[in-house]
Amino acid sequence: MSMIAEAKHLKAYYITQSYGVERTVKAVDDISIGIREKEVLGIAGESGCGKSTLLKVLLGAIDPPLRIIDGTMQYEFAQDSYNVFSMSKDEIKQTRWTQVSYIPQGSMHVLNPVRRVSDTFHDFIATHRDLGRSETAKLARDYLQKLGLPEQVMSVYPHQLSGGMRQRVTIALATILSPKLVLADEPTTALDVLVQRGVVQLLKEIQQREGSTLVLVSHDMGVHANLADRIAILYAGKLVEEAETQRIFKTPQHPYTQYLIESLPRLGDKTERSSIPGRPPALDNPPEGCRFHPRCPHAMDVCTKEVPPLVNIGDGHKTACFLVSEEKK
Ligand SMILES: Nc1ncnc2c1ncn2[C@@H]1O[C@H](COP(=O)(O)OP(=O)(O)OP(=O)(O)O)[C@@H](O)[C@H]1O
Ligand code: SF4
Ligand SMILES: [Mg+2]
Repeated sequence: MSMIAEAKHLKAYYITQSYGVERTVKAVDDISIGIREKEVLGIAGESGCGKSTLLKVLLGAIDPPLRIIDGTMQYEFAQDSYNVFSMSKDEIKQTRWTQVSYIPQGSMHVLNPVRRVSDTFHDFIATHRDLGRSETAKLARDYLQKLGLPEQVMSVYPHQLSGGMRQRVTIALATILSPKLVLADEPTTALDVLVQRGVVQLLKEIQQREGSTLVLVSHDMGVHANLADRIAILYAGKLVEEAETQRIFKTPQHPYTQYLIESLPRLGDKTERSSIPGRPPALDNPPEGCRFHPRCPHAMDVCTKEVPPLVNIGDGHKTACFLVSEEKK
């Protein structure tokens, strides 16, 4: 299968100075991941594990205090291949939104509050396409109609829309120029369950109809179960497991993944689910060895000293835990 983006040994740290003391937060620490063309890749993990940071790196949006310390990233679009960290300003401008698009965390608030939705669409489209007012309006109207969104949203201000509708409009804006790769950060968080379902449905529809690739960050494994083809689990800046969705839910290998799945509420089951004891570590001083060892019920001596490598256990199922050994060749 072909890859649309591939990252190797990514290290992206936040480096800040305060009162002359340097602080380094290792938010993405040696992550290698390939994104397959036309898949929905879910990225999961608790708060502070580095999900948003990884997504920013995948977008190529590296702004201080975030810095790339190591690693490479490639985009492979139909004819063009890009080395993301050495793209020129022009190349970034050419590809952002038209090839690679981004729905940031908390994007309910990205729509300009003092502009009508139609003006926001016009400004956005006109920046990328040489189109006049009536043409951008037609493009926006047609697209909203395709997505089943009411035309009236165009004539109002963002605050006049419900939270769910605002999120749908934001998604429409981010995808109207037919990007091949869409990166969405917690697009359903802060919405109530029913509305979440609608937003998940909308993302899926766009991805299938446009034949695009979707990378979806969510801390909610339930959302991934409904939407993702494959899931990558992050823990404390590291990729700890990656596999097809069904496989990860059926046979999770990493103790952290097992916890995440066990703590999901189950249909018709009223008993309290066990949540994971403890919390993820601060990333300016992560534990030595396996970063999960302070919380792991199976931790062994080696886990406190050595970093478990990510190994392939078959069919693209990878995990980083000393309990699991590599596929025998
Ligand atoms: N601008 C910043 N400066 C310094 N540290 C930062 C900055 N942004 C994020 N961090 C730190 O980087 C780590 C990873 O943060 P990130 O936002 O990527 O996590 P996340 O998995 O997206 O969390 P959440 O689920 O809460 O959105 C955290 O320890 C966070 O405090
Ligand atoms: S490597 Fe050790 S500490 Fe880490 S998850 Fe596996 S058993 Fe637990
Ligand atoms: Mg985040």
